[in-house]
Formats: sequence, structure tokens, C-alpha cells
Amino acid sequence: MEKEQLSYEEAIRRAGDAIQRFPLIDVHGVPLMSTIAENWKSVSEFCPDPSDLLISTYPKAGTTWTQEIVDLLLHNGDAEVCKRAPTAVRIPFLEICAPSPIPSGLDLLEQMKPPRVIKTHLPIQLVPKGFWENKCKVIYTARNAKDNLVSYFHFDRMNLTQPEPGPWDGYIHKFMQGQLGWGSWYDHVKGYWKERKERNILYMLYEDMKENPFREIKRIMHYLDLSVSEDVIKRIVQLASFQVMKDNPMANYSYIPKPLFDQSISAFMRKGEVGDWVNHFTSAQSQMFDEDYANQMKDVDIPFRFSI
Ligand code: A3P
Repeated sequence: MEKEQLSYEEAIRRAGDAIQRFPLIDVHGVPLMSTIAENWKSVSEFCPDPSDLLISTYPKAGTTWTQEIVDLLLHNGDAEVCKRAPTAVRIPFLEICAPSPIPSGLDLLEQMKPPRVIKTHLPIQLVPKGFWENKCKVIYTARNAKDNLVSYFHFDRMNLTQPEPGPWDGYIHKFMQGQLGWGSWYDHVKGYWKERKERNILYMLYEDMKENPFREIKRIMHYLDLSVSEDVIKRIVQLASFQVMKDNPMANYSYIPKPLFDQSISAFMRKGEVGDWVNHFTSAQSQMFDEDYANQMKDVDIPFRFSI
């Protein structure tokens, strides 16, 4: 039977009818939304073109920001072209499957010609092997654990397709034990870090991007073998700034209906800061987290910063 081609609006409307807080299901040791687990065979067998670029992150590490920067770099800082569609349509989310507030990644990719930019939250061991066999470029953005956790907590409150976050204290423990969607933050950031040289992965840090976006955008530009003038890079710094993206309907997810993403609970573009964790952790929670962190991170030396 021929696959029905839905307009984006229709897909969102139907997703709205079918939406629920999907449970997490174990896929090779990683908890993933049931919609992904049920379609795992197709996701894992996706084969990219060697010219495709993968942007990978743990959820809430600065994915949308990295996506916007890459799209702007690829279009020489042309703001209008980068407003041609919402982020999730310009840069498909590989593993997301219907019903979902954003369109299915595999469906979109089927309709796009390479070179494509593709988003994933999959830990490195679950990334379809074709990305490595075809030596695709991969940009990985990581964010310090405490801010990442805070951001994920607020996201789970407002994204009504994710499991209920429950109380803050319990959420911290779920994060530490790798029980949230896409699994352990610790395994995720370490997995890509350990393989970054071998697999030519550009490893970015959210805090570095906040500290000096000009420098970090240049790093991406060099990695992508692009040549963009300094004036254009300055413009990209501005266009990809938190304030501008917060007001950009093609980047702020405001097109997703309220029953799916309830931004009155918490905005998608929430604060965009380094160090907001101090407003959430009690000193006892922070100490307990730090002790566990030292243990879980003892085998790597990723230069995370908890303030800048
Ligand atoms: P906060 O919840 O801390 O505000 P993702 O895109 O991976 O879902 O990450 C979302 C987080 O990145 C949110 O963090 C969001 O505000 C932040 N973010 C999005 N765009 C940003 C930008 N241009 N500059 C800084 N932070 C940004």
C-alpha cells in the first residue's frame, strides 16, 4: 500500500488526537519512548549518505541552538532562508516516530535529498552504523550535568508526550540512575568523548558557546570546511542568540499546539543560561550529586564548567 503523504499541519493535528505521555521502553539497555522502541528496526537500519551531517546531543544540551547555527552557516547567514520551516522540518529528528508533536524523522528524510542535516539524541552505541561506515561528519554538543538536568526537568513538565517528571528530588535520582528518556547523561557524554578522535566528531560544549559564540561558530565552520566571512559570523552570533531565537517562530517550537507542548508551564526557550542549577539544587542535593558525579565521571576528563 502506498504511504499516505500528510501535510505537516495534518500530521500535527493527528498527532494531537493520538498523543499521550508515552512510556519508556528498554532498547539495548537504553530507555526510549515507546514510539521509538516500536519502530526501532527501521530507525537502526537508516542509512545516511556520506554527505549527511549528524547533530547529536543528550536532550536539552543545546540541540536547537546548534541546529540553528549549522543551518545559518550552511546558508551564509541568510535569516530568511533559515525561516523556511520549523527547526524539526529543516533538520529531521532521526528517531522520532509518529505520533509525535514533531514530524517523523524517517518520513522527512525520505523526502529530502542529501546532503541533509540530521538530529539525534541517541547514545553513540545506538547511532545507526551507516553513519560510521560512511564517515559522516558528527557534531556533538554537551552541557554541564546540573544545568542539563534542570532544563530536562522543565521540559518534561511542558512536553506532554514525555513521562511525567514527578517531584524535583526524585527527578535528580532518575537522572543520576539513567532512567530518563535516552538514558544516562554520563554514558552519553562519555561515549562520544571517548570516540571523538577516532570517529572525527566535533565535540562542542554549551558553556563554551555561551562564553564565546563567535569562536565556537568558527570551530563549526572549520569542521564543515566552510568559508564564511567574519561579518557573516558576527551576524550568525546575533541571529542564533537566545533572545532572537526565543522570538523566532521557526526556532521556538511555538507552532506545536498547547495540548502537546504547553509553553505556559515552561517555555521551550526557557532561560538559556549557564548556572541556573543554583536556583534548583539545595546544598544537600548538590553535595550528593557531586559525590555521585565524581564517581561516574572518574574515567574521563571532559572540561565541563558549572558556571562561566
Ligand atoms: P534552558 O531550559 O536551560 O533554558 P535543546 O535544544 O537541546 O532542547 O535545549 C534546550 C535548552 O537550550 C534550553 O535551556 C534553551 O533555553 C537553550 N537554548 C536554546 N537556544 C539557545 C540559545 N540560542 N542560546 C542559549 N541557550 C539556548
